[in-house]
Amino acid sequence: MVKVFVNGFGNIGRRVASAFSKDKEIELIGIGKYSIDERLDEAVEKNFPLYVPENMRLKFKEAGFSVSGTIREGIAQSDIVIDAAKDGFGFNNKIDLYLPLNKPAIFQGGENRDGIKKVADIIHNSRVNFNDMFRRKYVIQGSCNVSGIGRIMQPMIEKYGKEIERYDITLIRRWADLEDKKVVKDSIEWDQNPHHQEDVKSFIQAKLYIEAYKVPSRMMHVHQMTIRFEDAAPEIDSFLEVYKNEFGVAILSNVSGTGDIRMKAMDLGFEYGDTNMVHIHTDATRKQDDTLKIVYSDDQTGMVIPENHLLLQSILFGRSKNDAYNRTDAIFDMQKKRRILESEFKG
Ligand SMILES: NC(=O)c1ccc[n+]([C@@H]2O[C@H](COP(=O)([O-])OP(=O)(O)OC[C@H]3O[C@@H](n4cnc5c(N)ncnc54)[C@H](OP(=O)(O)O)[C@@H]3O)[C@@H](O)[C@H]2O)c1
Repeated sequence: MVKVFVNGFGNIGRRVASAFSKDKEIELIGIGKYSIDERLDEAVEKNFPLYVPENMRLKFKEAGFSVSGTIREGIAQSDIVIDAAKDGFGFNNKIDLYLPLNKPAIFQGGENRDGIKKVADIIHNSRVNFNDMFRRKYVIQGSCNVSGIGRIMQPMIEKYGKEIERYDITLIRRWADLEDKKVVKDSIEWDQNPHHQEDVKSFIQAKLYIEAYKVPSRMMHVHQMTIRFEDAAPEIDSFLEVYKNEFGVAILSNVSGTGDIRMKAMDLGFEYGDTNMVHIHTDATRKQDDTLKIVYSDDQTGMVIPENHLLLQSILFGRSKNDAYNRTDAIFDMQKKRRILESEFKG
């Protein structure tokens, strides 16, 4: 059994803790919680041992919660930490906790790979560099958008390689997650320097240009990817064949927008309403001369959870990718979810 500590119990941490606790190879030592709020009800209901900052211990006890120890004590008992802190907080966690306690850690996509607050040298994308993660101590799991782009680009590169000249992606990003309390601002905002481009280029070498816009929605991201070929672009049907057996990619038709998929996932009882995948939309995919335009949506909150699970298997066990995919599928039911979604949204 591998002992895992999940530091942070927000949108990502709660999903990681819930999924990892179903894996018989994993002993969830506990979760790190920093504030007293309604999220604690879920932790209590699921029997996740609670670890809190030293200076909050008394407050949690006074509020009626049973505390198993301090966050430092939780990490000390673990073999690896999944850091699921707010963007940028992972750096201090590494300096204050993981380095002094000599513990490996997986960070999330809001952390830096460059500059003074860098937490790791490498970003993981299971479809691209899974095999390079073995025995690494610190790795960043790419953000949802970055994970989705790797899942879409890598199979295409393997099939068409040098036939492709360049890729242009417009990311249309959701404003907040479903469970976020923050107000969704009625505005379309642009990102002057989207981190996604350099993040993807750290593991895929390609002529790639990314623009990002944030829109007032809580329901997934949409990517419009324009792929320019040297000669004529392939027919859409043969292009889509590339994804027929791709892990974590569904091919959907008759979807009018991201809300359709999220609501369907909720109706179908997928945990947290997550599909954990990207969905290529055939209705919005077009070909003209040397150019193919594809549109896919990316389940922002669910996407990176199986990626964290795969990464852990690479770091700690050096498993083969196929073996890891099978084990991850057994926890997340990704193939089954894909089949269901494809039969719900067919042409
Ligand atoms: N949300 C997404 O769709 C998404 C997708 C992919 C990647 N990510 C990345 O995943 C990371 C977490 O995002 P999120 O959406 O889960 O954020 P979130 O919902 O705001 O949750 C962040 C959590 O961090 C906790 N926290 C506060 N100080 C901390 C510390 N020093 N160490 C550890 N945890 C601390 C907070 O605890 P309390 O609540 O107890 O105060 C909160 O539960 C970010 O890097 C983000 O970029 C997010």
